[in-house]
Amino acid sequence: MKYFKKIVGERLYLSPINIEDVEKYTEWLNDLNVTINLSFSPYIFSLEREKEALEKLSKEGYNFSIVSLSKDELIGSCGLSEVNHINRTAEAGIFIGDKNYWNKGYGTEAMNLLLDYAFNLLNLNSVFLRVHSFNKRAIKCYEKCGFKEIGMRREAYIVGNKKYDHIYMDILASEFNGKIQNIIDES
Ligand SMILES: CC(C)(COP(=O)(O)OP(=O)(O)OC[C@H]1O[C@@H](n2cnc3c(N)ncnc32)[C@H](O)[C@@H]1OP(=O)(O)O)[C@@H](O)C(=O)NCCC(=O)NCCS
Repeated sequence: MKYFKKIVGERLYLSPINIEDVEKYTEWLNDLNVTINLSFSPYIFSLEREKEALEKLSKEGYNFSIVSLSKDELIGSCGLSEVNHINRTAEAGIFIGDKNYWNKGYGTEAMNLLLDYAFNLLNLNSVFLRVHSFNKRAIKCYEKCGFKEIGMRREAYIVGNKKYDHIYMDILASEFNGKIQNIIDES
């Protein structure tokens, strides 16, 4: 078995990361159409380098593979970093590497599953993220999840001769309705 249904949605589930997916991740992380939206575009990901990264991500922290329920197919990854259990804060990150799945609501569903995990199992209170100002698809996706824009860092991302701002967005536990709490009533 390659994937495990940790947090289950309608079309997707979040599974622990499987390092056997190293080739798929390496393909995505060398695809500029994907990584230009992240902060990885200048870096060169070899299989070896990605294997080391996946080994770390699969053993430490709060990182998931995003997997389609219908085909058990890997479509991307998401996770929480900078988790602080005193102030109950974290930073969220997500990417869908398989471009066939963009613009079909999968990112919104995956981010909602991640937030359900963050607020209802880790009991966090505030989750924030950073997004490049040109990434309108991601901004819309995050707004649909309930994130609000809270500020920006100007000219923090440079591609060619153009400078782009970083938009900061956050969401509080009190603004999010998850489904994990229903598991107790249903079981
Ligand atoms: C960002 C990402 C996670 C979003 O996931 P997704 O499944 O594509 O997004 P969704 O379909 O859930 O939502 C996207 C919304 O943006 C809209 N959208 C797409 N392009 C847009 C644009 N140029 N301007 C405004 N809205 C746009 C879509 O129509 C959709 O809204 P709708 O459901 O109201 O029609 C995914 O596209 C991705 O991983 N992209 C590459 C990496 C990346 O950008 N990661 C995020 C870094 S912060």
